[in-house]
Amino acid sequence: MWDVLWINAHLATMDGDTGYAAIEDGAIGVADGQIAWVGPRADLPGAADALARDVQDAGGRWVTPGLVDCHTHLVYGGNRAREFALRLDGASYEEIARAGGGILSTVTATRAADQETLLHDARRRLAALQAEGVTTVEIKSGYGLDAETECRMLRTAGLLGDAGIRVRRTYLGAHAIPLEFHGDADGYIDLVCDQVLPRVADAGLADAVDGFLETIAFTTAQITRVFETAHRHGLAVKLHADQLTDGDGAALAAEYGALSADHLEYTSEDGVEAMAEAGTVAVLLPGAFYTLRETKLPPIDAFRRHGVPMAVATDSNPGSAPVTSLLLMLNMACTLFRLTTAEALAGVTRNAADALGLRDVCGRLAPGLAADFVLWDIDDPAELCYRIGWNPRVMTVVGGKPLSPGDG
Ligand code: NIG
Ligand code: FE
Repeated sequence: MWDVLWINAHLATMDGDTGYAAIEDGAIGVADGQIAWVGPRADLPGAADALARDVQDAGGRWVTPGLVDCHTHLVYGGNRAREFALRLDGASYEEIARAGGGILSTVTATRAADQETLLHDARRRLAALQAEGVTTVEIKSGYGLDAETECRMLRTAGLLGDAGIRVRRTYLGAHAIPLEFHGDADGYIDLVCDQVLPRVADAGLADAVDGFLETIAFTTAQITRVFETAHRHGLAVKLHADQLTDGDGAALAAEYGALSADHLEYTSEDGVEAMAEAGTVAVLLPGAFYTLRETKLPPIDAFRRHGVPMAVATDSNPGSAPVTSLLLMLNMACTLFRLTTAEALAGVTRNAADALGLRDVCGRLAPGLAADFVLWDIDDPAELCYRIGWNPRVMTVVGGKPLSPGDG
């Protein structure tokens, strides 16, 4: 017997290759925190109250899988409102970074912040994501750069995980060259590969390793060393690739079987082909594109033609994407990148779960997956993408347990 049976719901199951894989007047049976049955109510194998201990009426609402934000930098100290003002005065993101601002200014603030402060600030940002139906979030380190602060960031990210949210952690040591290694990027990569990454892996503080391949960050040779070290320690890899210039990052990520390559505005067709062959997910970050007033669009048509799955995430960070709304990213993915509404929704559910190696855990309404889903007060799933600044969430169910608005 199931624990709960949800009836009278329209389901955007996202359990297909295209579209919403929608079921009108559907039902979801939940047992032991997992989805035990999903389908049209008319196909239920018996009378509702004979199937489950508890029957819940969704009131004709639409239900989607719990949303997955697969690329964030939620844990950091301080903020960069002053840098925002400088950019309004004409300074570019690269100029600010080269002058020691940008990521490095957040490194200074993060090193100075204790765990309690980091946790308090990150919790507020996470609460904003949860209020919009996020049930799984990826959180990167990368604003500590020394062993102690990187580990503090990852431990803080771990503490954010609780019964209401699944957290995946990513070690992003190769994010920027810290001041103490100025002019010696290779020396810093030695520290990452010989000391910090092994320590992070041994302590079980991360599920994956990420890097920033860019003219203002690290070279192909340096990222290659990081990826090889990650693999030796049994960790998956991901890459901030081709965000500001084409550095063949997509191809490098694909060569190492990366779960995802992220940003990708400058990725070439060859890079897209390599990703298709490797099964690497393209993570699109329209909030960073918007904030940096980028004009080069990621190669969306090429991703479609080559069958590369596209995910959409907030990239929530203090510099390029001070974003805490995944619903707004749905809108921007459609309006700025011309994704269809079904592609955008797949980008924050099925494909986002893939980008975290969680294909068999969450991201779809399908038997055997976690019973993580959201009830929305909408007439059509496209409404989640269409509105700006409107949150139609009625309720989130995580592991079969309801969370009401405000719980998150
Ligand atoms: O994903 N591209 C590199 N890293 C972040 C930005 C970090 C920052 O500006 O603080 C990103 O855009
Ligand atoms: Fe990022």
